[in-house]
Amino acid sequence: MEQNWNGLKSQCMHCRACGLCETRHNVVFGVGNPQAEVLFIGEGPGENEDLQGEPFVGRAGKLLDLMLEAVGLSRKHNIYIANMVKCRPPQNRDPLPEEQEACAHWLAEQIRLISPKIVVCLGRIAAFHFISPDFKVTRQHGEFIEKDGILYMGMFHPAAILRNPNQKPVAFDDFVTLRDKVQEICTHTTLTFD
Ligand code: URA
Repeated sequence: MEQNWNGLKSQCMHCRACGLCETRHNVVFGVGNPQAEVLFIGEGPGENEDLQGEPFVGRAGKLLDLMLEAVGLSRKHNIYIANMVKCRPPQNRDPLPEEQEACAHWLAEQIRLISPKIVVCLGRIAAFHFISPDFKVTRQHGEFIEKDGILYMGMFHPAAILRNPNQKPVAFDDFVTLRDKVQEICTHTTLTFD
């Protein structure tokens, strides 16, 4: 497992499969516990993530960390966080379909090695890919959908919550729903409040 994970990461760090490699500062492979039972998937690195090489370290990431922490989850202990694409799309545009396609195998392999019980899709790009191309975040956020033994849930992207702060209470309810499901099915996950 260790070997495979480290091997995957070092290959990914040299990826040149799409044009995003030309403008990136860092490949953002992911962060957290690779043995976690809960995997969060965002869209792609922004400016701060590109500079620091870690997902969700800007304002949206701070909000994500706060909501995680409130329900006993954290990137330090019991979840893993990755993105649909590992390199920053210029001007923070959505990753193009061909960029997502070129990158998809890295995430597929991460999912295979982590073997999560729950996958949380942050925003529509991840939800389109993993749940359904018709997924409507505003209507279907917080619902669990089972596929091949994994429970998927779509949530509001934290950047969308920052743009629309009145969504915060509803968005936070999804973290509570997630915590309840973690307590129900994730037998190896200890919720941490430190
Ligand atoms: N938004 C994302 O979707 N991913 C990040 O890593 C940062 C911001």
